[in-house]
Amino acid sequence: MYDITLIPGDGIGPEVAYAVKEMVDSTGVKINWEVKEAGETAYQSCGNPLPDELIQSIKKNKIGLKGPVTTPIGKGFRSINVALRKELGLYANLRPVKSLPGIRTPFENVDLVVVRENTEDLYAGIERKIDDNRAEAIKIITREASQQIGFFAFSYAKERGRKKVTAVHKANILKYSDGLFLDSIREVKKQFPDIEYEELIVDNVCMQLVQRPEKFDVMVLPNLYGDIVSDLCAGLVGGLGLVPGANLGNEYAVFEAVHGSALDIAGKNMANPLALLQSAVLMLNYMKEFKAAQSIEKAIAYILAHPDRLTPDLGGQGTTTSVTKDICDYIQKISC
Ligand code: NAI
Repeated sequence: MYDITLIPGDGIGPEVAYAVKEMVDSTGVKINWEVKEAGETAYQSCGNPLPDELIQSIKKNKIGLKGPVTTPIGKGFRSINVALRKELGLYANLRPVKSLPGIRTPFENVDLVVVRENTEDLYAGIERKIDDNRAEAIKIITREASQQIGFFAFSYAKERGRKKVTAVHKANILKYSDGLFLDSIREVKKQFPDIEYEELIVDNVCMQLVQRPEKFDVMVLPNLYGDIVSDLCAGLVGGLGLVPGANLGNEYAVFEAVHGSALDIAGKNMANPLALLQSAVLMLNYMKEFKAAQSIEKAIAYILAHPDRLTPDLGGQGTTTSVTKDICDYIQKISC
């Protein structure tokens, strides 16, 4: 029996989180889910968007599965995601992006991995209002964090038999900060002579991604570019309803989809649970529950082959509930 912290989150979070809990449970892996609130929901109920109870639960269980949380724009509390990742030392954000059978997009054969530094850059949250007409923010880049993420990206490439790492930067303008990021990655590269390496400026990367996405393999990016580029990559393969993610550190792991709380569709039973379900596949592989992970992957392939049963973001007429039922039924069928 595993203990795992389940964070439903805000907006569509609870809909997709409980759907995924049900689908993971249907594989037969025994999990005691410890449900903990975060974000707007926690703020409303106890005045703290990141309760200590939640942190302690993940520290005890080592693994969390998290729905998205709302971060108020331009006011209110600071990002819970940033605080959680910092508090738990989740320095690597891993986002595999792959073309899926049955999902038609202008691109084929996309199979890349975004490795995003998760703890610093402009997300350090050091900004201030100078006066009504001026504000400033500080971008923090350290050699330690940059080398750590570089080492993660190259090790991941080596372990998975991937061929190339692309470091993404804007060091032509940000000569010291992005310059330090690049210098740190180059240092790490020396330990991985068999992996091909290239450096590309972030604007050029965006252009090339929408022209020839198949040329990318593993990409390593500072926090802000990683955040933006991973949404772009999600768009290449069918959108935010499909792309999984993992926040990894040396001690803890929190799995979550790339998408946010999608307030425009919250409570309408329209949210696509497949992105968080794919994050749960990453989680099951991390737990070495390979059979359960494979069952879910087969069930996802099955539902993708029935486009009308998918949720509206993928052009189907399905609902969060119907997709969940279809997946559970399929898993049940193949395990008999
Ligand atoms: P979003 O990802 O919530 O939504 C962007 C668009 O994609 C919307 O049209 C939404 O309906 C659609 N979408 C997203 N996930 C979907 C799903 N599973 N199924 C179907 N359609 C889906 O991005 P947005 O609107 O920029 O952010 C909303 C809130 O979420 C903000 O407060 C933001 O800070 C937060 N956020 C939280 C994240 C997290 O907790 N990891 C990540 C990204 C954003």
